[in-house]
Amino acid sequence: MKKALLTSLLTMLGVAAAAAPAKSKQERSIDALIAKMTLEEKLGQLYQLGGPVDTLIDPAVRGLLGSTLNIGGGAPAVNKLQRAVMERSRLKIPVIVGADVIHGYRTVFPIPLGMASAWDPAAVETASSVAAAEAAAAGIRWTFAPMVDIARDPRWGRIAEGSGEDPYLGSAIARAAVRGFQGKDYGAPDKVAACAKHWAAYGAAEAGRDYNTTDVSERTLREIYFPPFKAAVDAGVATFMSSFNDLNGVPATANPWLQTKVLRREWGFDGFVVSDYTAVQELLQHGIAADGAEAARRALQAGVDMEMVSTLYSSNAAALLKQGWLSMAIIDEAVRRVLRIKHRAGLFERPYVDESLAAKVTLTPENRQAARRVAGRSMVLLKNDGAVLPLSKSLATVAVIGPLADAKADMLGTWCGEGKKEDVVTLLEGVRAKLPQAKVVHVEACRIASCGEAGIAQANVNPAQACRAEPCANAGIQEAVKAARKADAVILALGESSDMSGEANSRADIGLPGGQLELAKAVLALGRPTAVVLFNGRPLTISDLVEISPAILEAWHPGIEAGNAVADVLFGDVNPGGKLPVSFPRVLGQVPIYYNYKNTGRPFDPADHYRSKYMDAPNSPLFPFGYGRSYTQFKLSGLSLSAKSIRPKGRLTASVDVENIGAREGDEVVQLYIRDLAASATRPVRELKGFERVTLKPGEKRRVSFELTPELLGAYDQGMKFQVEPGKFKVFAGDSSVGGLEDEFEVVAAE
Ligand code: BGC
Repeated sequence: MKKALLTSLLTMLGVAAAAAPAKSKQERSIDALIAKMTLEEKLGQLYQLGGPVDTLIDPAVRGLLGSTLNIGGGAPAVNKLQRAVMERSRLKIPVIVGADVIHGYRTVFPIPLGMASAWDPAAVETASSVAAAEAAAAGIRWTFAPMVDIARDPRWGRIAEGSGEDPYLGSAIARAAVRGFQGKDYGAPDKVAACAKHWAAYGAAEAGRDYNTTDVSERTLREIYFPPFKAAVDAGVATFMSSFNDLNGVPATANPWLQTKVLRREWGFDGFVVSDYTAVQELLQHGIAADGAEAARRALQAGVDMEMVSTLYSSNAAALLKQGWLSMAIIDEAVRRVLRIKHRAGLFERPYVDESLAAKVTLTPENRQAARRVAGRSMVLLKNDGAVLPLSKSLATVAVIGPLADAKADMLGTWCGEGKKEDVVTLLEGVRAKLPQAKVVHVEACRIASCGEAGIAQANVNPAQACRAEPCANAGIQEAVKAARKADAVILALGESSDMSGEANSRADIGLPGGQLELAKAVLALGRPTAVVLFNGRPLTISDLVEISPAILEAWHPGIEAGNAVADVLFGDVNPGGKLPVSFPRVLGQVPIYYNYKNTGRPFDPADHYRSKYMDAPNSPLFPFGYGRSYTQFKLSGLSLSAKSIRPKGRLTASVDVENIGAREGDEVVQLYIRDLAASATRPVRELKGFERVTLKPGEKRRVSFELTPELLGAYDQGMKFQVEPGKFKVFAGDSSVGGLEDEFEVVAAE
């Protein structure tokens, strides 16, 4: 009975004796090493723990710890640990040191959602490559990034860490991030192994509440949530992290369909999967394991190789083996995957890090310059009525007002690595540096209270009081009004503090927190030339603000060069060219709202009541996916297709002219969408299938082309087979997911 169970499990996991290809030298040396390992040493390789390095040396030397997370202490601490292992442990297997290096290490770049707004994979590659070099110099050989979770619900605080709502854009960014972190060889001294997380559908948390349950059809998984993970695999990502959530009834960390069937068997991933923080232990809370032994067995058998922080693998594997619940083949396979990545990371040849490196490569002027440039590219001009922006550099008096005008820590955003607030240039400092002759007056007016435990406890008593800005006392508002009245121009810095987004920081009200709207109303009522700069980690419901503000720049949390980058844009040295990677709802009740929705059988029609709509809000978002303005204007024309009819395996090219018809050089992101008009399963009204950010001088015109391949045109049919089905397709070329030029072609069945 047990044997039969084992055999079927082994087959399921793909570790059964199939006709194996000849093994490489590296694989043979891994086999030889595994043959020498005791069970404890094997389990050690499957264990990861954080903490001060001195507490980790003893278990590591005894072979009980294969990896560390977020230990800090830089190169000296890592070398100390590694030296102990390489000199004193029995088998001398180096430790792999992992850390959350998400959007920069010491040189902090914009939050990932901000970087996604640049629609510029090269910018993401640069940021990841700078982060890799700085982190590697501190002894880190593995980052828990990129986070490639698609998110359609801005209540979810971790939307800040991803690339937004679209699988095509998300995939392009996932590839770029993996390239930046890993390069061609993540064993190089300036590279780190990457980790695609959180596998899978973590961003689909019900009601936007972090860690919440997810229930997502296989179609939506494969079409929306999976593509950026697949892109990461194709780019050679070293590792995956299993997510906290349960998915369709099975927690991801105990989900053989995700961890083995799709990831390993379908996609051919041969790296290792680490659990998220204590996620193996949490299988008990999920209610799918009666005890620690069952949790360990389920996670290991599913294909989760390394356990982060909780200790159920090491404490239960021996008994599970003895009782026949687990096979040594499963443990060996997990160990093999970990050792394989340690080899590829060059740890066996180069276990130590050069301690003199960090001082040379960290926070260099070039790195800061890159952070400033990427931040500038990530900003999205949401509104600019009356050409309030750019502001003149010859202004005599400027008032910089609001709780985020001089808020150093808040510029770093969530997961800011080793970012230090003292390295941050705030907006106030950036404006002062840009206008050395001007009088720059600062009024904070109100503070955004920290959303700490007290705020959260308060939420349970009185939600209206939690996580809000300290109400702008009348005195604060009056001071702001006084300063604004005397200024030639006003900059209002509003938004969220950095701890209002990120892990566990979901919000049930995504409006501008606290009294900031009252502050904005009072200042804007003066009618002075005023620009609002938003610093936030998610789309906000800001309809009221948009109505009263002539100019709004979405800056996200822009990183250490925040103030310089925003000032570059406000004063016209950089012409904003970012586009939203996520829709901004008008009201919370529209959430989830995304551009690639289905048409339904009753799409909105103002002449018919019985249509899919709200009675109290439009269906459309406040700002759509792909939207963003510029200080110049662009015109798209001449959309043409290389063919009007193709076979299912055929391809075609869509080309369109983009011309700068304004007076300044600027960037446009040309976006190509398709709509499959009749397929056997319903298709979205639009799907992004190409984009290119181009820089054009005034009067300059360029033709941009996008190839549409079967991979881009195909979809899952009713039987979940991916194919290009015959029928008509629409093609749209535009500057956002709304409107644009249109054409059509047809896929004709092969004879
Ligand atoms: C997060 C992961 C992170 C890990 C280690 C978890 O709580 O979900 O994204 O990599 O902690 O810090």
